[in-house]
Amino acid sequence: MKFFIDTANIEEIKKGIEMGLVDGVTTNPTLLSKEKKDPQRTIKEILSIVEGPVSLEVIAKDSKGMCEEARKLSSLGTNTVIKIPMTEEGMKAVRVLSQEGIKTNVTLIFQPVQALIAAKAGADYVSPFIGRLDDISARGMEVIEDTITIFSNYGYETEIIVASIRHPLHVLQAAIIGADIATIPFNVLKQLMSHPLTDIGLERFLKDWESIKK
Ligand code: E4P
Repeated sequence: MKFFIDTANIEEIKKGIEMGLVDGVTTNPTLLSKEKKDPQRTIKEILSIVEGPVSLEVIAKDSKGMCEEARKLSSLGTNTVIKIPMTEEGMKAVRVLSQEGIKTNVTLIFQPVQALIAAKAGADYVSPFIGRLDDISARGMEVIEDTITIFSNYGYETEIIVASIRHPLHVLQAAIIGADIATIPFNVLKQLMSHPLTDIGLERFLKDWESIKK
């Protein structure tokens, strides 16, 4: 299973790389706005430190504008993936970009048929937002399960990115059902490695070791 980090924060990305947990990065306009600096500068910095795929989102609402933005963004690095929203215009853009060899990640997916449509259009990745579904008492992970089944039924190679992850249990569930990728916020990435019994156990080992030291 691949771990992407869901952030535009350079320090978080660097720390994630040191932890060995950054197979790629996903950003979005909200994450870039949190950095309070020129987004173009942030994007270039991210591309300069990350080897894996980096998803960058278009702002335009029409397919022509999306394609123009996508071409500019993809010229910034060989590892760019263009995030396109799941709209009619977005699907037109995905078709064009896929023919041009520009990689796409269809974002804001909330039901499996949307993922199927994105795959049919030629998307390289789809991003169902499970946390936002859980927030409204829907079952986010079921969208992932059904999408896995649908892609396997028809042999689509589009990779599924489990997005809008809120806690380690989401990562566990995604791994159990065999999702390709989880894109994880930095705080959750850190939580994945910790357990209170690990801390207690380590403290006890060190204390016992001290007691036998001369
Ligand atoms: C995915 O690519 C998105 O950036 C992200 O996971 C959205 O998560 P949120 O619901 O926490 O904003």
